[in-house]
Amino acid sequence: MSSQIDHLLDETRRFPPAEEFAAAAVAQPEVYERAGADREAFWGEQARELLHWKKPFTRVLDWSTPPFAKWFDDGELNVSYNCLDRHVEAGNGDRVAILWEGEPGDSRRITYAELTDEVKRVANVLSGFGVGVGDRVAIYLPMIPEAVAAMLAVARLGAVHSVVFGGFSADSLRSRIDDAGAKVVITADGGYRKGRVSALKPAVDQALGDRGDGVQQTVEHVLVVKRGENDVDWVEGRDVWWHDIVPAASVDHEAQAFPAENPLFILYTSGTTGKPKGILHTSGGYLTQAAYTHRNVFDLKPETDVFWCTADIGWITGHTYVTYGPLANGATQVLYEGTPDAPHPGRWWEVIEKYGVTIFYTAPTAIRSFMKIGRSVPRKFDLSSIRLLGSVGEPINPEAWMWYREVIGGGDTPIVDTWWQTETGAIMVSPLPGITATKPGSAQVPLPGIAIDVVDETGEEVGNGNGGLLVITEPWPSMLRGIWGDPERYKETYWEKFDKQGFYFAGDGARLDEDGDLWLLGRVDDVMNVSGHRLSTAEIESSLVAHEATAEAAVVGASDETTGQAVVAFVIIKESYLSEHDAAGLATQLRQWVGEQIGAIARPRDVYIVGELPKTRSGKIMRRLLRDVAEGREVGDTTTLADTAVMSIISAQVK
Ligand code: WTA
Repeated sequence: MSSQIDHLLDETRRFPPAEEFAAAAVAQPEVYERAGADREAFWGEQARELLHWKKPFTRVLDWSTPPFAKWFDDGELNVSYNCLDRHVEAGNGDRVAILWEGEPGDSRRITYAELTDEVKRVANVLSGFGVGVGDRVAIYLPMIPEAVAAMLAVARLGAVHSVVFGGFSADSLRSRIDDAGAKVVITADGGYRKGRVSALKPAVDQALGDRGDGVQQTVEHVLVVKRGENDVDWVEGRDVWWHDIVPAASVDHEAQAFPAENPLFILYTSGTTGKPKGILHTSGGYLTQAAYTHRNVFDLKPETDVFWCTADIGWITGHTYVTYGPLANGATQVLYEGTPDAPHPGRWWEVIEKYGVTIFYTAPTAIRSFMKIGRSVPRKFDLSSIRLLGSVGEPINPEAWMWYREVIGGGDTPIVDTWWQTETGAIMVSPLPGITATKPGSAQVPLPGIAIDVVDETGEEVGNGNGGLLVITEPWPSMLRGIWGDPERYKETYWEKFDKQGFYFAGDGARLDEDGDLWLLGRVDDVMNVSGHRLSTAEIESSLVAHEATAEAAVVGASDETTGQAVVAFVIIKESYLSEHDAAGLATQLRQWVGEQIGAIARPRDVYIVGELPKTRSGKIMRRLLRDVAEGREVGDTTTLADTAVMSIISAQVK
């Protein structure tokens, strides 16, 4: 980490906003003053200005029982009405909500009026299935408009969605369905990825099949969108085709208002233990900050902009900046089904040219993979419509930042590097594009209304010029309200790292430069960040150990040029297996195994078969040393190891 800090210190380039941009920007400098003068009043203003309240709230924040916050809690609203009907009622029904592009090149334009009708039909179908306030619905879909419609239909009923990323395996889907106790699953036969239909329905069938583990099955209905031409198995009485039931459903559905703290969704994310955490978000506060950040950070002008966030709806970025933020603001946005390089490496740039995208939001891992291919590919397309670029998911290195600005942004486009988490619900730290002079590689400043600090292990401020742990020191509207079904774990994980009350610990290291700007330095816990996706070392380790050949396993995140970090596993194989199988074959088998158990994103880049693992005298695996090996470095201090010789044996084995 120290070499990274040195490198960042060298960064002296500054890019102040262009005068013209600043003059026309949504966010003007006095916003910091207003928010600074009275944080709660500021958020109350945003909630009233940006959203429609069926019953106005009289109280902004109830923080009387920390860390359980209530925002706008005596107010009532309908989230789906805020994202749809009100735009139609305001005369914008003909505005395009979604410009959808399928991977094979098919496309659909969907207006706000059309999307509103579709959501009303789906809401009627779901009510027919018995879905009501508080019920959970799992969504396991590709990036098709039905995914957005499904989320909004669930929200419309005051029910709770749990979107599971389509790349997750049947096992991961099953554990999420079980944990949430979902009543309905919405899925598709499959979705296009890299030129072929990657199946989804079989994973649902497997997840809902009899597993002899005694866990009570909660799912009553499976609603299936037909996207590809895949044959699917069918369970009569449980499975229903979307195209058989949705178009025939009534288009009348009046949105009922629900309390601001009514749960909106659960989204599972990795923590430091093997069990994914169901992060719970509620309605009024979440939607306020989603709409506020989308409008101000991206300088959104809903009448003229074409916004494109490339994230999958299976991640928080897809929830907040595909579904809720853009639609609450009445924006027009691109939704793209496939991978960036199918059927050709310029696919994304082609989409930008085709739709005249003005605001583009993606992840550093994607930018770095485009850098590898070279600028000749994007140069073939007209990207001149772009006026703002965003980055999210992991630290963006200055080189990638500059490449993004020059090659994709034509040399003068502002970049917003946005730091946030599944738990924070919306952007927390970011430059404001018409105000902040940007620095390549720095996420810079907390947004107006957000309080961030960098502290040491005891919770004391480190001050400018120093590094430490990132904390959030005041509650914020889109904060998580808990971990589904586990309030204790919520308190322990996020709020008890320091003695200080009310400090939320994000798990990230950060540094404040001499100007007080923030530089994110990556996770400090046992959570990796692979291609902008959080994976826990413990989860992959338990998957490896579940394989019959494995005696013990340790997983580390090693830095990787393209994906930020890569999964590297060190595995001890049982004697009996080692004698019968060759190491290379076992390593391949284990990589596949993790892919099947958790999903392709968790598949280790490298599996090293070793004879021993480095442990302290108390038996704790020293991952720091394994990371040194995985990153090809000199192995660090081994004096606290129970057996100091072990690292040289491992290094030799890996070589
Ligand atoms: C990392 C994604 C540096 C960070 C929205 C955080 C970042 C984790 C940035 C959350 C950024 C996200 N700069 N690091 N701009 N944005 N991260 O929950 O480690 O998938 O804790 O949410 O991603 O990942 P999550």
